[in-house]
Amino acid sequence: MAKPIVDTEYLKEIEKARRDLRALISSKNCAPIMLRLAWHDAGTYDAKSKTGGPNGSIRNEEEFSHGANNGLKIALDFCEAVKSKHPKITYADLYQLAGVVAVEVTGGPTIDFVPGRKDSSVSPKEGRLPDAKQGVPHLKDVFYRMGLSDKDIVALSGGHTLGRAHPERSGFDGPWTKEPLKFDNSYFLELLKGESEGLLKLPTDIALLDDPEFRQYVELYAKDEDAFFRDYAISHKKLSELGFTPS
Ligand code: HEM
Repeated sequence: MAKPIVDTEYLKEIEKARRDLRALISSKNCAPIMLRLAWHDAGTYDAKSKTGGPNGSIRNEEEFSHGANNGLKIALDFCEAVKSKHPKITYADLYQLAGVVAVEVTGGPTIDFVPGRKDSSVSPKEGRLPDAKQGVPHLKDVFYRMGLSDKDIVALSGGHTLGRAHPERSGFDGPWTKEPLKFDNSYFLELLKGESEGLLKLPTDIALLDDPEFRQYVELYAKDEDAFFRDYAISHKKLSELGFTPS
């Protein structure tokens, strides 16, 4: 049997890295891109072949060079500063911890973090992450492939309460909400309001209004922020643990 990754020493390092990430994310205002990094490392998971997922493989140039990952080198470099102080921690754990801390420091729900993910040097082929230009069937295909549900899709799309699109990275432009450094349910309120000067809606955001299964959650999360926070925390934990069985 290989030695398990997590022991008392490892847990101590995780707590130190958590503090370092809090300080780093607050001082650089980089919560959005750290959350996007965690999601893009995890979101390649394929439940059938059990490949991809939150395994740190996004650090490989082959993978961070995928079009969907444009701009994420910035977040990888931020994480490298924390990794060099806590070399025991796997990249896979570090990226997911960064995602959890990003949500926390911007006022979102506390997400339970279980350490012990292993790093992989194998990257999946390009094309596993969702394409923002597509609609309902594509969104369902991609997230069902990960083993996630309609409810997870809507709750996790609420991650767009943070950050913005950059023309040079994705071809899209602008934030989804008026306060892109605050984690709240404004993404859903804006989505239901329709077009708003200066705010972005991707085709995949609008798709959440087109499907009745999706739409019921958009309406719920717009009127009940506690329900959004509760479901988001559950779905985010699921995303961060795709293919991972804690030891
Ligand atoms: C940014 C697409 C789901 C978190 C973006 C951008 C696109 C995109 C095109 C702009 C990138 C740029 O130009 O910098 C999608 C699509 C999704 C999806 C098609 C399918 C549902 C998610 C999920 C999360 C998330 C599940 C997290 C839970 C973010 C964040 C940003 C972002 C935080 C802002 C990054 C920044 O400000 O630098 N997404 N996304 N997205 N996405 Fe998503």
